[in-house]
Amino acid sequence: MTSLLRLGVNIDHVATIRNARGGDHPDPMRAVRIVEAAGGDGITVHLREDRRHIRDSDLDTIMAGAHLPINLEMAATEEMLKIALRHKPHAACIVPEKRKERTTEGGLDAAGQHNHLAPIIGRLLDAGIRVSLFIEPDARQIEASMHLRAPVVEFHTGRYAHLFLDGDNAGVEAELKRVADAAALCAKNGIEPHAGHGLTFENVQPIAAIPQLAELNIGHYLVGEAIFIGLDESVRKMRTLMDAAR
Ligand code: PXP
Repeated sequence: MTSLLRLGVNIDHVATIRNARGGDHPDPMRAVRIVEAAGGDGITVHLREDRRHIRDSDLDTIMAGAHLPINLEMAATEEMLKIALRHKPHAACIVPEKRKERTTEGGLDAAGQHNHLAPIIGRLLDAGIRVSLFIEPDARQIEASMHLRAPVVEFHTGRYAHLFLDGDNAGVEAELKRVADAAALCAKNGIEPHAGHGLTFENVQPIAAIPQLAELNIGHYLVGEAIFIGLDESVRKMRTLMDAAR
């Protein structure tokens, strides 16, 4: 019997579409309500340093109005730390952030950045925020995350998603094994493993089948698919595929 796999829905790209016109439609808060009704388990937002999608005012509204737990993705900067401490979301996922990247392109170097990350993680934990580190699925980064006292890590599945798209079956299998081994290592050491990035209806099930994973965070594909089938159906279908994989 495996436990339920939670679905965190990243609604950043509802704001991306809104910002393309500069008005207030589509409203990310309306997306929150739909995700709540469709069986999502959490709302994920990434307040990027350049505010290219979610803005500070969105975070205010979502924190005040959402009924689901909020997972705030944030760079490890003093500015983001202050914002997180003011809002006290359920969880904060620390991500590497480069200004020019289109999305979060790789995992956090938890091992190499220990001295920078330790005080930030300490202050988030002291405030009762569940800290997650967005890392590549490898033992060195997991060990570093343990030293940093992170209760949760999220594995970057971007490489898996790219290999899947390329039809590289051997590569996909190797990458799945890397995620599965990393998830097992986390479970053995009392860290809760999550995963996310580039997951779609087509590629989600082998990842969802990894029994130790407790949560997937999925955004771009769900919002993109919402254009064709609606956000409600998009979330419901992902939920059904994830449940069927368990
Ligand atoms: N998890 C983290 C930590 C991310 O940075 C992102 C992208 O913002 C996601 C999950 C969701 O990725 P995608 O939008 O490709 O589904």
